[in-house]
Amino acid sequence: MGRAPWGVDVTGRDRAISLHQRHMLITGLSDNGKTAAMRALALWVARDPGADLWIADLKGPAGWAMFDGIADRLVIGPTDEHVIAATEMLEDAVVEMQRRFQVGGSHRPLFVVVDEAQVAYMCPAKDPAKRPFGGQSNDARYLGAVRKIHNQGRAVDVTLWEATQDPTNQNLPVLSREGNHVRASLVVGTEAQAKMALGEAAVAGGAAPQELRRGLDKGALVVAGSGLEMEPWEVAVTVRTHYIDDATATQIAKRALIARQKAQQASTPTADPVDDLAAILAALRGEERVRTTAVLARLVADRPDRYRPWTAATLTAVLTAAGAPPRKRSTMKVSRTDLLAAIVARDAHQTGAMAGGPIRG
Ligand SMILES: Nc1ncnc2c1ncn2[C@@H]1O[C@H](COP(=O)(O)OP(=O)(O)OP(=O)(O)O)[C@@H](O)[C@H]1O
Ligand SMILES: [Mg+2]
Repeated sequence: MGRAPWGVDVTGRDRAISLHQRHMLITGLSDNGKTAAMRALALWVARDPGADLWIADLKGPAGWAMFDGIADRLVIGPTDEHVIAATEMLEDAVVEMQRRFQVGGSHRPLFVVVDEAQVAYMCPAKDPAKRPFGGQSNDARYLGAVRKIHNQGRAVDVTLWEATQDPTNQNLPVLSREGNHVRASLVVGTEAQAKMALGEAAVAGGAAPQELRRGLDKGALVVAGSGLEMEPWEVAVTVRTHYIDDATATQIAKRALIARQKAQQASTPTADPVDDLAAILAALRGEERVRTTAVLARLVADRPDRYRPWTAATLTAVLTAAGAPPRKRSTMKVSRTDLLAAIVARDAHQTGAMAGGPIRG
């Protein structure tokens, strides 16, 4: 996927960033270009059919809608329900990481993106077992998943990007912010916030996003950490990001979606579709709705030879081709009702085709 062009530095030189196995944090005051800066990189990823995106935008509704169809997981909205869905998305990424560790080998890069992550860290909701989604207690679910991805994702190509506004110790826990390899900040209010955004060392070395001018320097990003090529004496680089407006982003996304659909058609397994749908049905174990991650795990348990190489994307592709796509937007779940209908429709079609006419009765 190479280096993503991100902007120009103060000398006018083009600056690009390597997205390979780097967790990333983008901070900054509201309305200065966080979403634009992160979305430009996500569009770069979208253009590569060999990479996957899972996206949660905890503000919504604008900004990320054009990734519908591109992102296998897309959560858009500000409520506790959306935070819960975003947390489950991260936890599913952790399950996917564990699967990758088990099967070994190389993997499609998976980029997990959370815009407005402060909404998750500040979420007061608790699950039925009384575990909080937000906060930073030992049992906090969102932070717990973030830390697992930070600690172990890199080796199996699962990468997390978070964007958050107006950082504080509450809405951006130190355990989270220090887990990033790339830290980029638009204008922030104070030097203390700059340290939260970029780390003590970068600010001590002269990085000063608090000195950017609010509003006037929209899109100007101080980037620290790895990823951008820097001179030996640089601890941070100020980049004015190339601005991709909504209309242009939508156009790029449309083209990316077409390229992805073509690539998917070429790679969707065609052999033995009867067995796959039946195997998926068996993996539901009679339950009405089962998370795709659980279905995958059961498929592997049932027939490791055939299903070990499958990813969530394979399962989604097979179900979509059969007319029973998993439900998107919150947790991805396979529906027994949809699947049965798809099998009935397929069998009717096959019988009809074989008999050379419509079926009766
Ligand atoms: N690189 C840029 N160059 C010029 N203008 C920009 C750039 N990036 C963003 N802007 C302007 O800033 C506005 C806000 O950008 P964006 O929505 O990305 O900010 P944000 O920090 O995500 O805001 P919020 O906190 O409200 O989500 C854009 O609508 C655009 O007008
Ligand atoms: Mg935004």
